[in-house]
Amino acid sequence: MKFIHLSDLHFHSFDSDNKGIVRRLEYIRQNPNYSSHNLIITGDIVDDGHERQYVNAYEALQPFLGRVFICPGNHDFGAAGNFFSKERAERFDAMLAKPLQQGGTFTGDSTPVVNILRDVHDTVMLIGLDTNLETDHPFDFACGEVGESQLGFLKTILASPASAGMLKIVFFHHHPFMHKNPFMELKDGRQLMRTLYGRVDMVLFGHKHVADKWENLNGIKYVLAANNTYGNDFAQEIVIAQGQITVTPIPII
Ligand SMILES: [Fe+2]
Ligand SMILES: [Fe+2]
Repeated sequence: MKFIHLSDLHFHSFDSDNKGIVRRLEYIRQNPNYSSHNLIITGDIVDDGHERQYVNAYEALQPFLGRVFICPGNHDFGAAGNFFSKERAERFDAMLAKPLQQGGTFTGDSTPVVNILRDVHDTVMLIGLDTNLETDHPFDFACGEVGESQLGFLKTILASPASAGMLKIVFFHHHPFMHKNPFMELKDGRQLMRTLYGRVDMVLFGHKHVADKWENLNGIKYVLAANNTYGNDFAQEIVIAQGQITVTPIPII
């Protein structure tokens, strides 16, 4: 089973501003080497939640229907990534999550969105979280939070006998251990990492626009940060084969 981790596409309203990301997605779609790859996109799919931006993002992602998995970032839910708007947040579900058949919604509920993928040898559980804090306070909103309720559901999913034996990939937008940054940190990042400790195989996120990779961190085989916005030409390819995970940077242009 193969995946490409993308993040922070930041679709704008005008086509002229989206040329870079559209070209990258087209390259992935038309490259025969990537024809069976699933995409995991860790938020900030649009730049400030405007309707036109969601139309553009959907048009570019629709060809990947059935193999694209998304979660929201702060820019999806509000202007400049700082000002939460319920209307824009609801657009994420109505104009992306539902038509891209995510198997769940993100806005206003605290249930992780779970998808299970199977091939002959492996079963992979994808767990998408909404780390946006639905608050009017701009500092808090850019920071993000998993929230007690969502953490509770996550613990239940990870402890469920039904999930035993599955490889687990958890993905969300905010950087979970970028502490001491009052504008960007995930407020309950420590609680999240404690919950994930030794219980999942991979953790993927974006938000900081800096690609990075940690191995065997916090009892987790791979922790990946992606940057695909504004000219980032590489992405991490994740290959799962008979329980083994390999991660390799690949060109996406
Ligand atoms: Fe971003
Ligand atoms: Fe962000």
